[in-house]
Amino acid sequence: MSVRSGFGSKIGAVLAAAGSAVGLGNIWRFPYEVGNYGGAAFILVYLLFIFLLGLPIMIAEFTIGRHSRASTGEAFQRLAPNTGWKWLGYSTVWVGFIILSYYSVVAGWTLKYTLKAGLNGFANQNPADFVAAFSSFSQHPYHPLLFLILFLVLTHVVIVKGVKDGIERYSKIMMPVLFILILVLAACSITLPNAMEGIEFLMRPDFSKVTGKVFLGAMGQAFFSLSLGMGCLTTYGSYFRKDTNLPRTALSVAGVDTFVAIMSSLIIFPAAFSIGISPDAGPSLIFITLPNVFQQAFSGMPILAYLFSVSFYFLLAVAALTSTISMHEVSTAFLHERFKITRQRAAIYVTSSCIFLGIFCSLSLGVLSHITLFDLGIFDLFDFLTAKIMLPLGGMFTSIFVGWRLERSISYVEISNNNTLKVYFFGAYIVLLKYIAPLAIGAIFLSELGIIRL
Ligand code: TRP
Repeated sequence: MSVRSGFGSKIGAVLAAAGSAVGLGNIWRFPYEVGNYGGAAFILVYLLFIFLLGLPIMIAEFTIGRHSRASTGEAFQRLAPNTGWKWLGYSTVWVGFIILSYYSVVAGWTLKYTLKAGLNGFANQNPADFVAAFSSFSQHPYHPLLFLILFLVLTHVVIVKGVKDGIERYSKIMMPVLFILILVLAACSITLPNAMEGIEFLMRPDFSKVTGKVFLGAMGQAFFSLSLGMGCLTTYGSYFRKDTNLPRTALSVAGVDTFVAIMSSLIIFPAAFSIGISPDAGPSLIFITLPNVFQQAFSGMPILAYLFSVSFYFLLAVAALTSTISMHEVSTAFLHERFKITRQRAAIYVTSSCIFLGIFCSLSLGVLSHITLFDLGIFDLFDFLTAKIMLPLGGMFTSIFVGWRLERSISYVEISNNNTLKVYFFGAYIVLLKYIAPLAIGAIFLSELGIIRL
């Protein structure tokens, strides 16, 4: 049997997992959800979910992956052979596939904006122009499709290169650069006129706004942002080396991810309030506020405005790429392992069907906007079903699997790296997986269905 590929170094593994986690979820989705749900109180609930559900479930996914040495599609079959658990593995593959389709639409927008910034297309425009330009682009019958296809082809190329030379190498270079740029931009944004209003929106919680919907939204966002609930980190965990410290890796990934999300809101909201854009503008939020940040913060120095906007959109595209790679990998690795076809062929199937599905998602924002279900277009429906329903369900079953079904000794061996690491809070970890996570997720669902009141 051939040796299974894996990440070459511990830091490479951390950066690849962080690369999966940090993406449009942090910079695009988090701010608009914060805007939708009214600001600071949502952020507090979100942080609670990161610690209570996110961290333990991430360690559980790593455990399943590294112990089974298989991608999520096969991992449950290996750890609990011939039981219904294998269906959990199979269904998570589908969820990732659906997310990849609509996520790539937005990822395509970032490419378009990189190009536009590169051609200096933001110079001398005012906020209303940015709003108009975004809607005419995103609703155009074929422009966004070209960028969607381009993005999926880029993802495809990295996936075909494999784990170490593809995924790991790109993550190692791009992640640190993105970090620095985000810091600079936050500093620019909070010095804009009237920025204080935006900061207040982020810092002053109004608990009267916390309803069951806020819980569902914050829980969905926590899963989405940490790449949890669909076996993405299970698959990455299967490439981890034996000496990778799972709890510490999870802590670093969650820490970096949360930091980037908070910093992104510190870029977006001061800017939005400063130019009078409503914080609940939805998915278009970053595409209409950010170009203004660059133009206004550097109005005396157009060259800086140019350089910052090009590099920001470029890195946003890269952050999205390290995330699409991780989703693509789940389906590709599954097809490759389960049906014994080559990685190349598996990747072709995944890429082409995502392009197909992605086209409908993209068009649903324009010419196909009349097709709706429960009042949601295809794009919004995919987002709702995956982030708010399927990921939390996946997380719930993952925690039940590790809490109740997997032998305790296996969890211990993985967390302690075969008794070579000191383990803290093992009891609490098990209690969280066994009781707290499934009950909390279940309660939020029941309240959403109107069966109980939170
Ligand atoms: N977490 C990524 C982001 O924030 C998106 C992502 C990558 C994802 N892999 C995932 C979301 C798996 C859910 C499940 O952009």
